[in-house]
Amino acid sequence: MVAFPRTLLSLSALLIDIASASRCSPASIEKPDLPGASILDIQAHEAHNYSAVSLGPGTNDGGHYTISFCNVTVTHTHPGWNDRIHTQIWLPLEGWNGRFQGLGGGGYSTGFGATYLTYAVAQGFASASTDGGLTTSDSSSTIPTDLSWALSSKGNVNWPLLNNYATKATNDMAVIGQQITKSYYNTAPKYSYFAGCSGGGRQALMMAQQYPDVFDGILAVAPAINIQTFIPAGYWPSQVMHDTDVYPSPCEVHAFTEAAGKACDRLDGVEDGIISLPARCSIKASDFIGKNYTCNGTQRTFTPSSAKVIDAAWSGSRSISEQYGWYGVNKDADISSYYIPTTCSTNFTCTSTGSDLFGTWIKYLVAQDPTFNLTNMTQPQFFHAMHSTIAAYTSILGTTDPNLTPFKSAGGKLIAWHGLADEVIPPNGTISYYQEVLKGDPHAHDFIRFFEAPGVGHCYGGLGPVPNSAMSQLMDWVENGNAPAVLHATKGYNETARDLCPYPLRQVYVGGDSRNATSFACA
Ligand SMILES: *[C@@H]1O[C@H](CO)[C@@H](O)[C@H](O)[C@H]1NC(C)=O
Ligand SMILES: *[C@@H]1O[C@H](CO)[C@@H](O)[C@H](O)[C@H]1NC(C)=O
Ligand SMILES: *[C@@H]1O[C@H](CO)[C@@H](O)[C@H](O)[C@H]1NC(C)=O
Ligand SMILES: *[C@@H]1O[C@H](CO)[C@@H](O)[C@H](O)[C@H]1NC(C)=O
Ligand SMILES: *[C@@H]1O[C@H](CO)[C@@H](O)[C@H](O)[C@H]1NC(C)=O
Ligand SMILES: *[C@@H]1O[C@H](CO)[C@@H](O)[C@H](O)[C@H]1NC(C)=O
Ligand SMILES: *[C@@H]1O[C@H](CO)[C@@H](O)[C@H](O)[C@H]1NC(C)=O
Ligand SMILES: *[C@@H]1O[C@H](CO)[C@@H](O)[C@H](O)[C@H]1NC(C)=O
Ligand SMILES: *[C@@H]1O[C@H](CO)[C@@H](O)[C@H](O)[C@H]1NC(C)=O
Ligand SMILES: *[C@@H]1O[C@H](CO)[C@@H](O)[C@H](O)[C@H]1NC(C)=O
Repeated sequence: MVAFPRTLLSLSALLIDIASASRCSPASIEKPDLPGASILDIQAHEAHNYSAVSLGPGTNDGGHYTISFCNVTVTHTHPGWNDRIHTQIWLPLEGWNGRFQGLGGGGYSTGFGATYLTYAVAQGFASASTDGGLTTSDSSSTIPTDLSWALSSKGNVNWPLLNNYATKATNDMAVIGQQITKSYYNTAPKYSYFAGCSGGGRQALMMAQQYPDVFDGILAVAPAINIQTFIPAGYWPSQVMHDTDVYPSPCEVHAFTEAAGKACDRLDGVEDGIISLPARCSIKASDFIGKNYTCNGTQRTFTPSSAKVIDAAWSGSRSISEQYGWYGVNKDADISSYYIPTTCSTNFTCTSTGSDLFGTWIKYLVAQDPTFNLTNMTQPQFFHAMHSTIAAYTSILGTTDPNLTPFKSAGGKLIAWHGLADEVIPPNGTISYYQEVLKGDPHAHDFIRFFEAPGVGHCYGGLGPVPNSAMSQLMDWVENGNAPAVLHATKGYNETARDLCPYPLRQVYVGGDSRNATSFACA
């Protein structure tokens, strides 16, 4: 072996460093070619040992990851739209797995930046996230509820930004991301994936519906389809609270949820704290009137007026207006966070803390007035608002086109799942969409599969196990033709595991430890 002098060795190491660093510079990144867009700026520099807590959309097994990547930021505009969109593309310096992954956002945002990018890069993906030109924050710790970007001025919807939010920025991100990936590695990605939950799940389905040949595999978790309807409809319990001037305390709300859990848990054949077959749980909040519960050590009694508010969340405004209403959430969902947000003083005088996620939609997109006072809205005005939002926004944001034939023809595969204890988006909306897909194409199962996740909250959370390996199962389907017969779910409360069943099959308890996946079968 030839012994190189140390200085020469470190010099060659330095040269390699310079080579890789110059590959990751604005000058060597090819300018993306995006029809209808004008590229304003490209930033690129290496980031070493960047460290963050991160996870995949719709997982609960994230962690702390340290990654080194080429950090590319592309800024573009759609001439005439007066928008300014930032797309982040993170390219692993080492160990690229040859694949691209686009990542969605949630709430009133189109991307969560580092929150999802870090994990995807740690898995070896060239990954991308877009801010859609919207002024929402980059964090997924809480659902972004700021919708002020949706108005150009009082009374005027910012249609270009709404369009970016709906679809356009997501496709832009994909096109830019794939081109930058190719430019940096000198090879196009072998496979392209998209993953998103909530608003990101809606972006995912939108890509399958409107840009069917961009992604080979799409993971859509708890998709916010029908957003123009379920969001304002989510305000219904608040409407009932204001109408009746009754604000159930958080612990009373929890007590109702617990009582329903006790009544319905066994209806799926096993007592595990999870309502796996919510359709069998026909109990109403009004059934508990007069029964006692304990709140902070004080014994109290369920009242008819509180029951009315709880039933508003469980049955949804659909029970009042079939046409301008929506489904409720299931009875093991934590309705105290979004549907019945109240706070109390020590003497049990309670009040609403405001329904940010649901109420802001009515303010900004229906009343189109940031100072609109929701608290004195009447019930007829509420249903008029429902009518208006459905009329105005279904075509741009609904994301319910059941015809996925072009996606199927392009060879795409899609996995969707929805937690049955979702506390934000009623799972029934996703179920009815999937039923429409199957109605139009009885063989849709060959390329799109939907799974119910019993006991799982919005994206994750709740007692139920979470399908943490959905992305790897999707890759196995796309790349090896192994369709997911079940979706493996893990890390439920008590380390419970389950194999989720492809709809319309459901889990049936066949005996054994309820924490064990093998104790259930699909039927
Ligand atoms: C990154 O971390 C590794 C391992 O701790 C270390 O060897 C390397 O020098 C670090 N690189 C930079 C640029 O800090
Ligand atoms: C990536 O680059 C952008 C633009 O140069 C910068 O704002 C951002 O902080 C960088 N992110 C990381 C994690 O280095
Ligand atoms: C009950 O206790 C919790 C925690 O100490 C407190 O936040 C809450 O306001 C109390 N009262 C009610 C009615 O929930
Ligand atoms: C969790 O496990 C403990 C101990 O086995 C058991 O007592 C409890 O009922 C379990 N909880 C649920 C929700 O299954
Ligand atoms: C319910 O609570 C009320 C008021 O605290 C009390 O008088 C009554 O005895 C309780 N009923 C039961 C069945 O515990
Ligand atoms: C959801 O749909 C099922 C089946 O159609 C129905 O039984 C159930 O009542 C619906 N749930 C809600 C909350 O609307
Ligand atoms: C409860 O407390 C609030 C504020 O602490 C007070 O305004 C209200 O009068 C009290 N209500 C009763 C019934 O004592
Ligand atoms: C909204 O209307 C309610 C009921 O009329 C009133 O009590 C409240 O003060 C109003 N809020 C604002 C911010 O104007
Ligand atoms: C609420 O009350 C204010 C005056 O207090 C009024 O200007 C506004 O129109 C009312 N809003 C609705 C929805 O009726
Ligand atoms: C689950 O079932 C498998 C197969 O029957 C068994 O090997 C395993 O020990 C069980 N695990 C638990 C936690 O019961």
